[in-house]
Amino acid sequence: MQASLVFLPGFDVSIKPGAGQTAWQGLFVHGRLRVGQSVLVHGAAGAVGAMVTQLAREFGAYVIGTGRAADRERALDFGAQEFVDLGADVLEDVGGVDVVFDVIGGDVGKRSAGVVRPGGILVSVVGPPEVRPADGLAVDFVVESDRGQLGEIVQRVRDGRLRTNIGTVASLDDAVAALNPTRRITGKTIIRARD
Ligand SMILES: NC(=O)c1ccc[n+]([C@@H]2O[C@H](COP(=O)([O-])OP(=O)(O)OC[C@H]3O[C@@H](n4cnc5c(N)ncnc54)[C@H](OP(=O)(O)O)[C@@H]3O)[C@@H](O)[C@H]2O)c1
Repeated sequence: MQASLVFLPGFDVSIKPGAGQTAWQGLFVHGRLRVGQSVLVHGAAGAVGAMVTQLAREFGAYVIGTGRAADRERALDFGAQEFVDLGADVLEDVGGVDVVFDVIGGDVGKRSAGVVRPGGILVSVVGPPEVRPADGLAVDFVVESDRGQLGEIVQRVRDGRLRTNIGTVASLDDAVAALNPTRRITGKTIIRARD
């Protein structure tokens, strides 16, 4: 877990920019998303996935989120129009999508190549895709800092268009324990710097 945070004056919470910039670059730089296209977002209730889901919806894409059964409501709340429970639904039933945004990899990543429609793109942030779409592109990347993109993300957080996926909020006194949790926490850990 990284603890790099952006403190927003006047806001109670800060955002960790990595997830937002990863989402931005995966969708708009590497995924070459166009308005009206469809995006399958793996781990749509997670830190990166929630950002991908919100940015893609705002941009005008059709968003299908995936995750565990317990993630359904959160993914829909972030803007996914459909949800695929990877433990119960058949991923391949989704049909062809323009962009797959993979934050999971493994078997899910391998099967994802099959749901990319001809000319589409499989974008991975978990290493090079082991299976490439038959008639499309496969790309993987590591996020890079970009001041302009960060500005776009911060502006969206400020005006309420983008919500960060908050898992837990802790005081400064409890910061060390909060950043070293003994149980699995989905979402970002926020350290409240003032009351
Ligand atoms: N390349 C880059 O520059 C870059 C940048 C940022 C992040 N990443 C990578 O992206 C990955 C995701 O990061 P994150 O911060 O978004 O993690 P996260 O908050 O844990 O989100 C991942 C989501 O996917 C779900 N998930 C994982 N495996 C699953 C499975 N087999 N079936 C169903 N749901 C599954 C998780 O559910 P559970 O919590 O229940 O497992 C969680 O909701 C990490 O591997 C991270 O290192 C790469």
